Amino acid sequence: MNTVLGGNMASDISGIPENDDIFYYRMKRHEDELRWLYMELYGNDSMYAELTGQMYEFYEARGAALKRIDAAREADPEWYKRNDLLGMMLYIDNFAGNIAGVESRLDYIEKCNVNYIHLMPFLNTVEGRSDGGYAVTDFRKVKPEYGTMEDLEHLTATCHERGINVCMDFVMNHTSSDHEWARRARAGEGEYMSRYFFFDSDVIPREFEKTVPQVFPTTAPGNFTWLPDCGHYVMTCFYPYQWDLNYRNPRVFNEMMYNFLFMANQGIDVIRIDAVPYIWKEPGTQCRNLRQVHTIVRMMRMISEIVCPSVLLLGEVVMEPVKVVPYFGTVEKPECHMLYNVTTMATTWHTVATRDTGLLKKQLDIVGGLPKEYVFLNYLRCHDDIGWGLDYDTLKWQGQEEVPHKKYLNDYFRGLAGSSNSRGELYNSDPVTGDARFCGTTASMCGVEKAGFEGDEEAMERAIQLDVMLHAYMFTQSGIPVLYSGDEIAQVNDYSYKEDPLKADDSRYIHRGKMNWENAEKIAESGSVEERIFDRLAGLESIRRSEKVFMTSADMWTVRAGDRSVLCIGRYYDGDKMYGIFNFSEYEKEISVTEDDRPCTDMLTGEEISLENIALPAYGFYWLKVKAKTQNSPDMDNDCRSIIRNGVLS
Ligand code: GLC
Repeated sequence: MNTVLGGNMASDISGIPENDDIFYYRMKRHEDELRWLYMELYGNDSMYAELTGQMYEFYEARGAALKRIDAAREADPEWYKRNDLLGMMLYIDNFAGNIAGVESRLDYIEKCNVNYIHLMPFLNTVEGRSDGGYAVTDFRKVKPEYGTMEDLEHLTATCHERGINVCMDFVMNHTSSDHEWARRARAGEGEYMSRYFFFDSDVIPREFEKTVPQVFPTTAPGNFTWLPDCGHYVMTCFYPYQWDLNYRNPRVFNEMMYNFLFMANQGIDVIRIDAVPYIWKEPGTQCRNLRQVHTIVRMMRMISEIVCPSVLLLGEVVMEPVKVVPYFGTVEKPECHMLYNVTTMATTWHTVATRDTGLLKKQLDIVGGLPKEYVFLNYLRCHDDIGWGLDYDTLKWQGQEEVPHKKYLNDYFRGLAGSSNSRGELYNSDPVTGDARFCGTTASMCGVEKAGFEGDEEAMERAIQLDVMLHAYMFTQSGIPVLYSGDEIAQVNDYSYKEDPLKADDSRYIHRGKMNWENAEKIAESGSVEERIFDRLAGLESIRRSEKVFMTSADMWTVRAGDRSVLCIGRYYDGDKMYGIFNFSEYEKEISVTEDDRPCTDMLTGEEISLENIALPAYGFYWLKVKAKTQNSPDMDNDCRSIIRNGVLS
């Protein structure tokens, strides 16, 4: 029997001393549920006792500075739900060579107004079999070229002194085939084989293949890899060198939780749970989003709330909204703290290519109607491709079928269709389904690359305008905006990956180029492309930080603007109200917002402006703050609440 907390707190606790009040208090809060879920999944008392014992060890080992952050955030659990976080994702080597290099560039990060950095995978991996670092050989070792675990701990501590949060990828779905477990499994050690999915014939693999879709249909087809040396198939849903872990085995769960807590104790603030929907496998299913995945994430949330409550869980769920939202869990039983706003991201680029804001309006209203507790990470692009996961049921109504529409989008962004100025490449183009995804940097997709190459200043200004407008629109959404490093200076596609045989067949490297520090210096050169983007973004970021109407928990809705290519977003928080108006077309537009007739202030210029007959330049936008109520004007609070209550959200 190993109830961690008996009736009188800490009676019979597998080796855990009774004197640490905070740990006991937190454990007491979660013990019943944690134990219940663990037993439901594993029914293994001694493994549960080991887990809780280790949790205490990690709690004990946690540094005093981190414990202070834990306490501060426990006292202010809404700390990540305001309007003052701005993220940036970066590869350590591309950005600054190694971890010490990143530390030496923190001034630049601060200059970008960034206070949340996502360090792309940095744990040990084998070059050429790394999937950008997502095939980890050792969860406790930093890739030697990047530095050591001590360097990382130093970086996180320095970041914390400067108020910067650090995020890392926790790749828990699979290990590298060069991980010690995998090597021992391959050598026939049953204990380690049981940590993966090994089969000595193709009977069960073929059963799985009937229902499990493919992640990389072109670059890594199929979900199993034959290992001739040991005469077994092993499950590999991603690349053949990424072996899926078997979470039916409590040893796998426990060990991976220890790895997670180990990294949390190095000062990591945000754990991005890579490929989380895939972590439980069941024959006859798609092996995605199964019930047990949620049990595991919920247990992870409780484990972190007990040991390291300042740490946030960010789920990587690249799926349609109905599948994403359950990863928040419920108010009583939360799972992830944050999730990516992925459908909104893809729908944004659909809007750029079609100049039709209809689908985006619908998508934003879905997100705006979700509970305020949910925090999304908003972004224009990340290190991965853009998959065209759009709401095709709605598009069908407008006569747009999925396959030809995806083809149009891919043609458009390669600069082959419509009046496109975009540049980029296809990713995992599947000849069977006709499906393909897309890769390119934000700036290249907005036309900066083409205009620069052609020396066309007019086209460059338009491209910059589109790029800035998209950022302004992204900042208008609720949640945490995250920039991709280099986007702040309009860095364009990098084609050099084609010359590297280890990268050549993965076009995602086109938008993972090295940070160009020479170009970054040009932010000081008035009139340079870099300065024009950087300064305008900085202006928007500072407004976003200082105006409470950008709080994550503000009301957000869309407003009819009278023109299909103009998007209007309303926001309301505690007496403040604003409209963000965005022209997704290259034509000048004049629109009126009829929902409100009070005068507004242009938040960028401070000038007074009416909501009637607003002139929008090509790809122009406005952030308009409705003037505070006067004695003669209607009460803004009531006015706004009635809009929300009546469901007049468009
Ligand atoms: C995630 C990562 C992606 C990687 C995959 C496999 O989706 O974002 O880059 O290929 O997981 O780990």
